[in-house]
Amino acid sequence: MSAVAPIKPDPAAPSKGPGTPAVRRIADLPGPKGWPVLGNLPQIKAAEFHLQLERWAHEYGRYFQIRMANRHMLVVADHDAVATMLRDRPDGFRRSARLDVIGAELGLKPGLFGSNGDDWKRQRRMVMSAFDPGHVKAYYPSLVKCGERLAGRWGKAAHSGASIDLQADLMRFTVDAIAGLAFGNDVNTLESDDDVIQRHLDKIFPKLFTRLIAGVPYWRFFKTASDRALEESMSAVNRAIDGFIAAARQRLADDPARRTAPQNLLEAMIVAADEPDSGIDHDRVAGNVMTMLLAGEDTTANTLTWCIWLLQQHPDAMARAMAEVRGVMAGGGPVTLDHLSQLDFVEACMHETMRLRPVAPQLLVQANHDTVLGDIAVPAGTVVVCVMRFDSVDDTFVPEGRQFRPERWLGEAGLSAASAKRISMPFGAGPRMCPGRYLALQEMKMVLLTLLNGFEIKSVATAEGGEPAERLMFAMAPVGLRMTLSPRGAA
Ligand code: HEM
Repeated sequence: MSAVAPIKPDPAAPSKGPGTPAVRRIADLPGPKGWPVLGNLPQIKAAEFHLQLERWAHEYGRYFQIRMANRHMLVVADHDAVATMLRDRPDGFRRSARLDVIGAELGLKPGLFGSNGDDWKRQRRMVMSAFDPGHVKAYYPSLVKCGERLAGRWGKAAHSGASIDLQADLMRFTVDAIAGLAFGNDVNTLESDDDVIQRHLDKIFPKLFTRLIAGVPYWRFFKTASDRALEESMSAVNRAIDGFIAAARQRLADDPARRTAPQNLLEAMIVAADEPDSGIDHDRVAGNVMTMLLAGEDTTANTLTWCIWLLQQHPDAMARAMAEVRGVMAGGGPVTLDHLSQLDFVEACMHETMRLRPVAPQLLVQANHDTVLGDIAVPAGTVVVCVMRFDSVDDTFVPEGRQFRPERWLGEAGLSAASAKRISMPFGAGPRMCPGRYLALQEMKMVLLTLLNGFEIKSVATAEGGEPAERLMFAMAPVGLRMTLSPRGAA
């Protein structure tokens, strides 16, 4: 049995004598009472799973158990313990094996997010080199183009007074940005109503999630209308991905010099795959194209949607963000990376948004071998659910933890940004931390700059008014936010 670095011992745990750490079994931990046979499964509401976990953590403490039929899971809400597990990858912990099975059944090819062990190490090296800040800077012009198209789309809405489906428009932006940047394809969903990829991706993510936490794998026995629609969506996205790969191969054939200096992630992956004994085959290239679309679309779009709503709720922060953007852009001209790098308060707003509304509010890991977490024995194969938003909104760790105070990220509110980052981990932690985080921050700054520099925001609200509900569909999204704008300077 190997032990993960010691976590704070639980004072309530029975001691087994001086100097001996108490070891509890997961089955001895408190937890919500479940049904016979099915355990807690009937109580789980997929779209609110994260909220249920947070409520249970308040009731049962930072370590508790849930049971999904015959699977006992450990739930951990303590940020130190969560960080320890996330850092102990790939050796101590992996992504849940269930993700492999359900993903393969859906027809998802092996990509970085779902891979483990040596396969993950090979893919991670390849993906990281294409996502370093240097490369993201090189692709910057395609990000500028997406910003200009978003400004055009919102400009039309501002002049006509049309209300904007905020999350849907931001998804168009993120799909266009990733397709341009990672695959060298100008899909331009922002300027057309042909949103093929986005429409189909929207079906895949929620389905993957509901199957992951489903008790009975009914789809292995019969297919509902939504399962059939899913199959069509998978085929449509796979066709689009094959198109991206064919276009990239053609570019490499037309200009062989690109093989020594690939222009984007996809070209780099193809070059790597073509090396003898690379261990990267066509399916892994296609799998990573899908991974980038899935991992980079909703996450960034939903975070932006939450951020715009939170700013609208906090006029002082909105005024400061707007003043910063308009000050930086006072000289006019096209947006440059230098402009984005001056948006400190805007960046603080994004960090604060991700602390309060993390779009990945829980992460699942699985123990590779028997281990001990704090004083809890964790047998090999145990799935551990990490609750990411618990300590990060707790006053003990973050003063006025439930309040939106972007200035705390600038060291202006009694908490250094370094300490805040140890507690709030919206991009995960350790070796599997999100490789797209730098790109996501650049995309989000580009959108906020476009919005705050070009428009006056008249409203950002749900149809009923009040706080938008949080809906979990793999990524957590605000429900039903619409925005109305007027051109800058108009009342
Ligand atoms: C605000 C935006 C984003 C958020 C909040 C976010 C969050 C996350 C989180 C929490 C993880 C899991 C990390 C872990 O296990 O420790 C992750 C992994 C990942 N993300 Fe992101 N992400 C965002 C944007 C992006 C973008 C733009 C891309 C790429 C286009 C991307 C690609 C990935 C990939 C490939 C992984 C898997 C990494 C691995 O398993 O090694 N993400 N992300």
